[in-house]
Amino acid sequence: MLGFQPPAIGEEEVAAVAETLRSGWLTTGPKAAELERRFAEFVEAEHVLAVASGTAALHLALLAVDVGPGDEVITIPITWPATANVIVHAGATPVFADVRDSDLNIDPDHVAELVSDRTKAIMPVHLAGQVADMDPLLTHGIPVIEDAAHAAESSYRGRKIGGLSDATCFSLYATKNIAAGEGGLISTNDSAVAEAIEALRLMRRGDGSLYDIVVPGYKANLSDVLAAIALCQLDKVEHHGEIRRRQFADYDEAVADLAGIEPLARDARDTHAYHLYIVRIDAVEAGATRDEYQRLLREENIATSIHFLPVHQLTAYRERLPDQPSLPVAERAGAEVLSLPLSPAHSDEDIADVVAALRRVHAAARA
Ligand SMILES: Cc1ncc(COP(=O)(O)O)c(C=O)c1O
Repeated sequence: MLGFQPPAIGEEEVAAVAETLRSGWLTTGPKAAELERRFAEFVEAEHVLAVASGTAALHLALLAVDVGPGDEVITIPITWPATANVIVHAGATPVFADVRDSDLNIDPDHVAELVSDRTKAIMPVHLAGQVADMDPLLTHGIPVIEDAAHAAESSYRGRKIGGLSDATCFSLYATKNIAAGEGGLISTNDSAVAEAIEALRLMRRGDGSLYDIVVPGYKANLSDVLAAIALCQLDKVEHHGEIRRRQFADYDEAVADLAGIEPLARDARDTHAYHLYIVRIDAVEAGATRDEYQRLLREENIATSIHFLPVHQLTAYRERLPDQPSLPVAERAGAEVLSLPLSPAHSDEDIADVVAALRRVHAAARA
């Protein structure tokens, strides 16, 4: 089976883990601090805080801007459920804005219609590595927390993401562009937000034999063993990104002549992070549904994935939000999206195999 997104781990990561274990630092220590410093340089932000996961990053960022019970947070339905789950964890209510048909990122016009006195934050997601349209989201005078799990390397209109909004949240999960297995990073230029997150992620250390806490923390700190892996991945981020960019180009060329199969739009004004190659499959034009394409590709030994099923249609949210209005663009996209294998661990031949299999499936489906 050709894997969907296998990690690209080399001898450098293996050596860094061994060195860290020998150093005696299993928990948060000098490697986590170095990762924060290096990532702050990378995203050109003043503060970076390392945490246990992308989910923890989003959760603590919401708490840091005072989201709590009774509040609403506007977000996007085409995302991993964690984006909405953390709103619930904070005691607030998710309000789903529809997405744009072109790139499936949050629709700023729909956000403007949904903003009310109860809106306490707006949470866009930079889907697949394409930055959401940030400027209109930043005009409401409401905190913006970016879910940048897919977007470590992205820029918006020439500016790196990381310091554009109140807080930008990255994931170090096994499939991400900087993959440590698990972990998350929050960047911000707001020192009050950074201080709040620091207090929430662990507990404030005393300066002698005593200790104190200012808030009950979540124990969401990052271990040095994982930070050591993330540092190696950060060293390789450009090289790995270049490999994925070539894989994107190969897929672009291939799908250009496959009727009914279209990649998501990418905005030439922005830097894309090439995290996921998502296509939309129009069942009529392409001769078969997305689900059938996924099954037929699996029979060809090609693993694919779905990013994403609309969150408001998942059981927990159908039960929680029974009056949720329909979101037509997201709902149609949820049935059409399919992500093709993409990873610096894949060779050019692997991608050529995917393309050949996709061509065979397409020809059979349209026959
Ligand atoms: C868009 C999005 N947001 C949030 C997350 C959560 O990150 P983590 O798995 O590190 O908690 C993920 C993926 O894992 C994601 O794809």
